[in-house]
Amino acid sequence: MMKAQLIFGFLLVAIFFFSGAKSATFTLNNNCPSSVWPAILTSSGPPLSTTGIELPSKASSVLDVPATWSGRFWARTKCANVNGKFQCQTGDCASGQIPCNGAGGIPPVTLAEFTLAANNGQDFFDISLVDGFNLPLSIAPQLGSGGCTPVSCSANMNAVCPPELQVKGSDGGVVACNSACLAFNQPQYCCTGSYGTPQTCPPTNYSNIFKSQCPQAYSYAYDDTTALASCTGGANYLITFCP
Ligand SMILES: *[C@@H]1O[C@H](CO)[C@@H](O)[C@H](O)[C@H]1NC(C)=O
Repeated sequence: MMKAQLIFGFLLVAIFFFSGAKSATFTLNNNCPSSVWPAILTSSGPPLSTTGIELPSKASSVLDVPATWSGRFWARTKCANVNGKFQCQTGDCASGQIPCNGAGGIPPVTLAEFTLAANNGQDFFDISLVDGFNLPLSIAPQLGSGGCTPVSCSANMNAVCPPELQVKGSDGGVVACNSACLAFNQPQYCCTGSYGTPQTCPPTNYSNIFKSQCPQAYSYAYDDTTALASCTGGANYLITFCP
């Protein structure tokens, strides 16, 4: 009896230790001139310890992300409490609080997307402008063993956003840039209907603007010129806002 309990106890410790050792460390780094409010949406796997934080300029924050996990990170900008409700001019998740509590970001928003594999397997990640752009960001894998090249979208799309795609903030400045799909909701921009395959949904004059600014990011739904980045070996990741 005693021996069985000891073995069981050892197994529990071993499971805890090894599952703990398989988690990845994500460092969120705010290089922007003002605060951003990073948010996290888990699409599969266990929820993280937080779904949203405030990150002052030049600050960083470290999170444990378990493998297997997939989900997305984005940053909210120009946030404030309005009548007791937390609101952001870009990337808001409409939770009324800093945590997003399982809600996604309202586009346009720059996304950092991840699928982490268990057992030092192959992780996949990308930067997506398919839902538009709100701020530049980069993803740098650290300590991985295979592939593992960083991807970056460091251009400020807001400065070159065509007027018909611009989202203006409360002070009248451009705070985000819609994708053409968001702005016009037409099949050729959204890759829906008869445009619903990679072969029938070519780049458009609008997606080409995003592509020219951020060649490493997905500029529209079937942007096959952008390889999904990957990394094996149980890497950690650094996400920098305004790299
Ligand atoms: C893109 O093409 C559409 C359709 O031809 C045109 O109406 C629009 O002005 C173009 N926009 C830009 C930014 O080139």
